[in-house]
Amino acid sequence: MSVAVMYLSETGNTKALAEQFYITLPNGDKSIHDISIYDKPPKADLYYIGYPVHRQTCPVKVLDLVKQIEDAGVAFFATCGMPPEKGCRYSLEQLSRKWVNDSCTYYGFFLCQGKV
Ligand SMILES: Cc1cc2nc3c(=O)[nH]c(=O)nc-3n(C[C@H](O)[C@H](O)[C@H](O)COP(=O)(O)O)c2cc1C
Repeated sequence: MSVAVMYLSETGNTKALAEQFYITLPNGDKSIHDISIYDKPPKADLYYIGYPVHRQTCPVKVLDLVKQIEDAGVAFFATCGMPPEKGCRYSLEQLSRKWVNDSCTYYGFFLCQGKV
């Protein structure tokens, strides 16, 4: 199974998390990509998509990429500045998930506070 970890990161928090996800994946067909230099997702069976929370939402660049993914598994991870509360986590997850194509399997959402 091919796995792509894709992230957007301005100050390095989400990138650091993405790299940890990547390292813990079993060796095999895995890759890691910076979304800022991608307009299309690379081919993969499973995507871990990471982003920094900006103004209580997910950056458009990330959503533009997510909506192009078809017939694959999708999971999200995000970093934020404020300590994450349940309500904030819930609304971010709903927002991200809405952009996942119906042909995909959704696997979940992870949110944590980044280094300030
Ligand atoms: C323009 C902008 C808007 C932000 N808005 C929020 C926000 O609404 N809520 C929050 O908790 N953090 C907010 N943050 C903080 C970032 O989500 C946080 O620092 C994140 O870990 C940055 O990730 P990065 O280092 O991968 O860019 C914002 C940061 C920026 C630059």
